[in-house]
Amino acid sequence: MNIAQALAHAKTLGLEHLQAQTLLLHALGRDLHDRAWLLLHDTDEPSLVMLQAFNALVQRRLHNEPIAYLTGSQDFHGLNLAVDPRVLVPRPDTETLVDWALSLDLEQATVLDLGTGSGAIALALKHARPSWALSAVDASADALLVASANAQALSLTLNFVQGNWFAGLHGSFDLIVSNPPYIAEGDPHLPALQSEPRQALVSGVDGLDDIRHIIEQAPHHLNAGAWLLLEHGFDQAASVQDLLIQTGFTQVQSRVDLAGIKRCSGGQWPEVK
Ligand SMILES: C[S@@+](CC[C@H](N)C(=O)[O-])C[C@H]1O[C@@H](n2cnc3c(N)ncnc32)[C@H](O)[C@@H]1O
Repeated sequence: MNIAQALAHAKTLGLEHLQAQTLLLHALGRDLHDRAWLLLHDTDEPSLVMLQAFNALVQRRLHNEPIAYLTGSQDFHGLNLAVDPRVLVPRPDTETLVDWALSLDLEQATVLDLGTGSGAIALALKHARPSWALSAVDASADALLVASANAQALSLTLNFVQGNWFAGLHGSFDLIVSNPPYIAEGDPHLPALQSEPRQALVSGVDGLDDIRHIIEQAPHHLNAGAWLLLEHGFDQAASVQDLLIQTGFTQVQSRVDLAGIKRCSGGQWPEVK
């Protein structure tokens, strides 16, 4: 079977063409972006071992395993991150949070990423702003192993802390960012996300338990004039804005994701309270 036939077979099984190309490139041990190579070699016949590896990946994808777990990597804000089932797969929408943080134009800032997972947000910020001092927290020791391996691979220095949100943190910050779990228990989207850690996804009956906790505690860890920026669910912007305002944040506002949905909300802790 040649490359074109292998891709066509995956399509008949129900796999999208782009996904089939990515999995085939992975099975062939090639750069995952090198689709042009597949087109130029569509009559090449991969070895039986490679075709079997490809077919196994196709089956796993058809059972809903994220492509990033199958290939072991995910691009995020221009960085290539190693990912596996110990961490949430970083989403393109989360780049909205990174871009917002970078647009604040802070210099020499102390910055905290709460619930760092693969390290995606903290690493993207440190890469773009080497002068920032980044701390990254996660409750999951497994996630921190993934994040610190990514930091090492990218030669970026972060202060990793294992703990329950702010517990165990000392000092205060000029910026706190977080993409916490924000899906409600029993949400109909959860079955499609079953490969990813539940601890990264679910947060109480309305999905807002962790966001409420972070907003309530953040003022104890923010310098005057510092910002708190949060990612949240597609329908949570109004609730998150209300929580920020009730807690005393100013300049409360939201940013839209790639689909134009209000995906991040944040505010500034007042200069003088
Ligand atoms: C939605 S994931 C975000 C991962 C990563 N920041 C990203 O954007 O791809 C949420 C993360 O919060 C972590 N987490 C959940 N509960 C936590 C808690 N109580 N304290 C600290 N981290 C927590 C999870 O382990 C997970 O890595």
